[in-house]
Amino acid sequence: MPRQAYVNGRYLPHREAAVHIEDRGYQFADGVYEVVPVFNGALVDEDLHLDRLDRSLGELRIAQPMSRAALKLVSRELMRRNGLSNGFLYMQVTRGVAPRDHKFPTNARPALVMTTRQMKPHSEQVLGEGLKVITVPDQRWDRCDIKSVSLLPNILGKQAAVEAGAYEAWQVDRDGMVTEGTSTNAWIVTQDNKVVTRDATHSILNGITRITLLELIRKEGYELEERCFSVEEAKAAREAFLTSSTSFVLPITQLDAKPIGNGHPGILTGKLRQHYMDYMQSLRKSA
Ligand code: PDD
Repeated sequence: MPRQAYVNGRYLPHREAAVHIEDRGYQFADGVYEVVPVFNGALVDEDLHLDRLDRSLGELRIAQPMSRAALKLVSRELMRRNGLSNGFLYMQVTRGVAPRDHKFPTNARPALVMTTRQMKPHSEQVLGEGLKVITVPDQRWDRCDIKSVSLLPNILGKQAAVEAGAYEAWQVDRDGMVTEGTSTNAWIVTQDNKVVTRDATHSILNGITRITLLELIRKEGYELEERCFSVEEAKAAREAFLTSSTSFVLPITQLDAKPIGNGHPGILTGKLRQHYMDYMQSLRKSA
């Protein structure tokens, strides 16, 4: 059976699935999204993702497209139809379809799209060699905590990374402090083995992987600081890594062409990745 997508109440072949040309997501990026990892058939941290979706919708005053129970049902039905056991579920909610006009439409219904994508495990090469990251100025607005589909600075940053032969770009604020990657959260391990990641303010997206990893770090008793760190501090760090729903925990071994630590993936980073993988392994299949 060809892959299917869910579009406003219907399951359609992915190839033919489409939204209206006057969908406000298309015209204004007036919408939000979530990427929920699926690991061995389990939706990872589903409720945390749905909490963040609710919050993003609330901040933008977009109505809920359906109840949480209904969202969960559609997620499972789409996973079942697509035979998805490892990959991710993408959900996008926009303010709906209305004649183009900046102000909120009075009677549009929120539009919901869901797709799934399979993902292969990260390659031994990536895990063995680590990733290259560059830095770029953070050009975004000051509500990066909202998971909006408006991602122009992020895609420009990611493209700059790709063109520099890197995997990710760390965005840097006006004070020279790293905010986060274009689609990942940023972490370092200091020379005295403290794990550091920026505190979750309006300047970053509070990653669900970040939230879960913070919990695992606390549980395992590693030293932790949630605070800003500069590009200089990152370059002098012992280790660096990134997190996201599609990267999980991945080591970084170069920042702006400078090796981090000894230039190999960090030992603590490897342990944290393992804790995260064990956590996902422990989850029960989403029925
Ligand atoms: N990106 N920061 C930004 C700007 C992101 O876009 C993401 C996720 C993260 C990590 O959040 P989480 O751990 O909840 O995935 C941080 C998704 C994967 C994407 O846009 O594809």
